[in-house]
Amino acid sequence: MKRPQRPRRESLRVKSGRGAGTIIEVEIERIVPGGAGLAHAEGRTLFVTLVAPGDRVRVRVDRVRGKVAFASVLEVVTPSPVRVEPPCPYFGRCGGCDFQQLTYEAQLEAKVEIIRDCLRRIARVEPPTRIQITPSPDIWRYRSRARWQHDPVRQYLGYHELGSHRVCDVVECPVVVPEVQTKLSHLRATLGEGAFDETKEFQAVAGDEGVSLLPPLAEEDAREQVREIAGERYRFNAACFFQINHALLEPLLKETLKDATGERAVDLYCGVGLFTLPLARRFAHVTGIEGNAAATAFARLNLADAQLANAAIETARIGEWLTRHAGGSLPRVDLLLLDPPRTGADPEVIAGILALRPEHIVYVSCDPATLARDLRALLDGGFTLDSIKAFDMFPQTHHVETVVHLTRTISSEERLP
Ligand SMILES: C[S@@+](CC[C@H](N)C(=O)[O-])C[C@H]1O[C@@H](n2cnc3c(N)ncnc32)[C@H](O)[C@@H]1O
Repeated sequence: MKRPQRPRRESLRVKSGRGAGTIIEVEIERIVPGGAGLAHAEGRTLFVTLVAPGDRVRVRVDRVRGKVAFASVLEVVTPSPVRVEPPCPYFGRCGGCDFQQLTYEAQLEAKVEIIRDCLRRIARVEPPTRIQITPSPDIWRYRSRARWQHDPVRQYLGYHELGSHRVCDVVECPVVVPEVQTKLSHLRATLGEGAFDETKEFQAVAGDEGVSLLPPLAEEDAREQVREIAGERYRFNAACFFQINHALLEPLLKETLKDATGERAVDLYCGVGLFTLPLARRFAHVTGIEGNAAATAFARLNLADAQLANAAIETARIGEWLTRHAGGSLPRVDLLLLDPPRTGADPEVIAGILALRPEHIVYVSCDPATLARDLRALLDGGFTLDSIKAFDMFPQTHHVETVVHLTRTISSEERLP
């Protein structure tokens, strides 16, 4: 006798499941900060990775936290009109890119929406009706800097897998510039010979002299790089930060500096001096502060090469530097520029900036959520928002660069309690 067929486990879960493992069909409403797609089902808010707005997808719930669930796609039931086939064979496994499934137009729209969402929800300000985003001239092969993870046991070299610390072995990466790809191929061949078993991570950076690598494999890997941006020459190496998308730096500098001039400017998180040099051409006195001693050494060299003697560079943690100077040891600051890492500015940095009372602030940010958090504090401290513009420094990912200008309107003493 034929046994009655048991319903498939999957469909049972669809009907009764409430927790992790549930399989469900949802429609993606929009892309939210962090790059996931937003959906609603069974009284829950779902965040689904690697989707397009308008996709109808069958997803598996991976994690549940109260009324919020995190899910991944099992099947695209009806693709959104803005969905494209991701060209990279590692996409979905490699943690490097999370927007390859979107047309470039849709990537730009999603990034503007992410900024607007952060401004509304975190900064509690109504965003301007239009936020201009400058597209990247190259949407593939644009990254001049890469950080590769090494698993000596499995002989893997590449990026971390999505949401994990396992290494995704990558032969070819479509977002790095060709010179960096050549270095990756060379490094993979060298590691195969058993060298560098102790090394967990490599950092590569391209410039006019080739590609520097840290730790270096050969003498040529240790040499410094140079790049000319908007008429200034910058020297740097793999041990310090330099922006990754060089083709966008000229418009980024233009928006950051606008027509600023004056007596004194302060450049917080100055790196090798990307903004310090042009500031020194516009202000009588400039101070750049940066925590990485390798970067400050290059910043001083870059200023000296440009014969700019009116800028001083200090190696310090920003919070500590501000605490030392905010009490009044610095004359009036006309412009304060800050370009912090993704974590944004610490509360002591915000407090120090407010105590310094600069006339204008330019905040260059690579994370809209921390930018919005810090903006709220600066607005509460008596600044008003003048302008906000976005730059697509990181195509194929949800990351976006934002430049915000603020002006001090009232001093903290003038503010009503
Ligand atoms: C986003 S990068 C910007 C660098 C530079 N403005 C540029 O565009 O090339 C941030 C820089 O802040 C530095 N940094 C991060 N946290 C810091 C801290 N607490 N104090 C001082 N510098 C810090 C990093 O070393 C890095 O050079």
